[in-house]
Amino acid sequence: LGKNGFMKIGIIGAGYVGLVTAACLAEFGFQVTCCDKQQARIDMLNQGKSPIFEPGLELLLNKHADKNLFFTSDIQKLIQHNDVLFIAVGTPSDPDTGAADLSAVFHVAAQISDHLNQDKVVVTKSTVPVGTTRRLKQHFTDALQGKNSPHNIHVVSNPEFLREGSAIEDFMRPDRVIIGTDSDYSKSIMDMIYRPLYLYETPIVWTDFESAELTKYASNAFLATKVAFINEIANLCEKTNGTIDDVAKGLGLDKRIGHKFLHPSPGYGGSCFPKDTLAIAHLATEKNAPLTIVDSVITSNDNRKKNLITRIQGFLGKTPYFDHSATALHGKKAALLGLSFKPNTDDMRESPALYVVPDLLAAGCIVSAFDPEAHETAQQVIEDHPKLSFENSITDCLKDADFLVILTEWNQFRALDLGEIKTMMNNPVICDYRNIFAPNMAKQHGFCMDYVGKPALFSTETAHIEMINKKNIDNGAKPVSAVDG
Ligand code: NAD
Ligand code: UGA
Repeated sequence: LGKNGFMKIGIIGAGYVGLVTAACLAEFGFQVTCCDKQQARIDMLNQGKSPIFEPGLELLLNKHADKNLFFTSDIQKLIQHNDVLFIAVGTPSDPDTGAADLSAVFHVAAQISDHLNQDKVVVTKSTVPVGTTRRLKQHFTDALQGKNSPHNIHVVSNPEFLREGSAIEDFMRPDRVIIGTDSDYSKSIMDMIYRPLYLYETPIVWTDFESAELTKYASNAFLATKVAFINEIANLCEKTNGTIDDVAKGLGLDKRIGHKFLHPSPGYGGSCFPKDTLAIAHLATEKNAPLTIVDSVITSNDNRKKNLITRIQGFLGKTPYFDHSATALHGKKAALLGLSFKPNTDDMRESPALYVVPDLLAAGCIVSAFDPEAHETAQQVIEDHPKLSFENSITDCLKDADFLVILTEWNQFRALDLGEIKTMMNNPVICDYRNIFAPNMAKQHGFCMDYVGKPALFSTETAHIEMINKKNIDNGAKPVSAVDG
């Protein structure tokens, strides 16, 4: 520890996990410095701006900036001036194998052993496959022996369970903290770091490296399984006139199952479920203990996202506004509300929009998209296209649209007035893949609406009458009703 036992903490990686960890540990009262190899990130942070959108983060960063929270791109200084180093760099999927790419983690490890000037505790916060923390320990042992260094590095596995969009709350009030250690010294340091959580009686699971690493992957794989499962049950509801809301409620009331993560969706996305399910499945196969359930979850979720375009086309063909030809979507305007993989984040990683936008463009649509936060990040990952525009308002997005697709359940979309939406659009057609609108309300407003896991309420007949009436009203003629025949 530094002078007078005052602990200084360095965080390597200023992404979602690194920045939230830095801000929250600063809030706990520690002196924290966070570094990133991207100079632009550090410049933004030093100007009081968060490089990512995460509710409450910028406020917390600014509360502590230049008091007990600092940002730097000088990793050598960060390593040398801090007692505890958290590694929070990315561990993306290898595009060929699906295994976790650990190059950033081991690059940081090499920098730590190169610049070591005193004993350190090195904590892996990044999600890393079982065996990585032990490999890191071996790396440090070899490197320090090679240099005849008198110093020691204690490694710790401390996986993170925060969710984007509620990351601060998740870090401050976690369901549990998992800590894998192999020395009393590192245990006592981690105990000090998490002491502020004792106030909330947060359970802390003290364990070995391997179990800590596995707990992280098993948790994400289990949650992904819950989502894929409810999505398949929603498919079954659609074929059998069941109602997914009631089924999920009935399931969730069983305390052994629990009600969370049972919302049907266009498929899970994000930087973690897709990557971590692939990584654990890859590792399991390598270790000859295949996770066939997780393999199926991956396939089920991939297919769900890939098949969205077929679902949209199939549904539109059932409405009176589109024909069944292969060119039915040619020149039609699709309004897309929501791009990020979930609300309250600007993260586009593995978002269903990454499938739907290119597929709609390929089908000949003009796509007009709106997301409250993710335009910039979307533009970085969705190829520029003359028929794709990112609009500044919901109104601009919906104007003269032939159909609307809801992909992310941002709160501000939930409150939209269906009557008003109808006046803005060309056709009253909605594909609501987050179930934000009530089917009976949509029907009352004369919408043809597709939604997930509930019996269809719109009938081609009523929609057809609606269409005739719209034409009649446009021409000044009398509206018709079902009774008129
Ligand atoms: P991220 O991509 O948002 O951030 C990683 C940061 O590390 C980037 O800013 C990058 O520039 C920086 N970096 C990479 N190499 C570096 C180096 N050598 N020196 C300094 N900085 C470097 O990633 P993230 O979403 O914060 O995820 C980080 C890890 O935490 C991953 O393993 C992820 O699986 C895990 N995790 C993420 C979440 C989440 O919600 N995003 C939750 C729990 C765990
Ligand atoms: C997830 C986990 O929830 C975190 O505990 C974990 O720390 C994190 O991954 C990680 O390891 O990085 P996150 O990806 O931020 O967090 O978001 P979630 O809220 O878990 O949602 C993941 C995906 O599942 C989203 O696409 C969401 O729309 C979808 N989902 C979630 C559903 O489709 N239905 C649900 O009921 C819940």
